[in-house]
Amino acid sequence: MSTLLELSGVSVSFDGFRAINNLSFQIGEPELRAIIGPNGAGKTTFMDIITGKTRPDEGRVIFGEKSVSLLKMSESQIARSGIGRKFQKPTVFEAQTVRENLAMALSNPRGPFDVLLYRKTPTGARRIEEIAAEIGLTDHLTRRSGELSHGQKQWLEIGMLLAQDPRLLLVDEPAAGMTPAEREHTTDLLKRAAATRAVVVVEHDMEFVRRLDCKVTVLNEGSVLAEGSLDHVTKNQDVIDVYLGR
Ligand SMILES: Nc1ncnc2c1ncn2[C@@H]1O[C@H](COP(=O)(O)OP(=O)(O)OP(=O)(O)O)[C@@H](O)[C@H]1O
Ligand SMILES: [Mg+2]
Repeated sequence: MSTLLELSGVSVSFDGFRAINNLSFQIGEPELRAIIGPNGAGKTTFMDIITGKTRPDEGRVIFGEKSVSLLKMSESQIARSGIGRKFQKPTVFEAQTVRENLAMALSNPRGPFDVLLYRKTPTGARRIEEIAAEIGLTDHLTRRSGELSHGQKQWLEIGMLLAQDPRLLLVDEPAAGMTPAEREHTTDLLKRAAATRAVVVVEHDMEFVRRLDCKVTVLNEGSVLAEGSLDHVTKNQDVIDVYLGR
């Protein structure tokens, strides 16, 4: 496993409040990593910095074997260099079918005119079938996405991100609003996705984090408070004080 992404000494303030405070973080490829921590710890801001939405005041953010600085790149350049992000609210095209949504995601880098052509090529059709199987929506390909359950929409959105084959996938609170069965499916899906890429999952649900069965980073006040196995970090007195013991 080699390092794919490295943040060092990153800080960002909003109106004098240090949301991220001298943060250092590394993730390998492939790797699955869970990020936990109290509300306001800086978890979403951390993802905003990686994707270029928020620019840090200080520090370095280095990606890939060529060690390129993400700080010099636009949000769209960062996305095109292989960093995908899933927001909390699903953003699938509700009027389109599951198949059409996946076709759009697959053809995205090549422009909107390829969409209908793409799904008609054998490779495109096969990729759509593969991703549908991967996300558990094989039986729903012809359904309008707006008819899917909340959990199914989330999987479709993850599928649309996987269609772009990102090297790093960032997922913020995927379990929110899901049934227990949907949560279980989501952990399986993320674990499989992380077999071949780096996946960072922010989540408050500790059962969900336990099922991910991966290294955990605990953020607090914009810095890493603890890191290691879930058992290791949940025994840490500081983690108990600021997060678990609330
Ligand atoms: N664009 C912004 N402008 C001003 N303050 C911000 C901005 N983004 C984040 N903050 C502040 O930075 C701190 C960290 O917020 P962030 O959303 O990263 O926390 P979080 O760990 O994701 O919390 P939660 O678990 O509630 O999602 C908070 O105090 C928040 O109010
Ligand atoms: Mg957040």
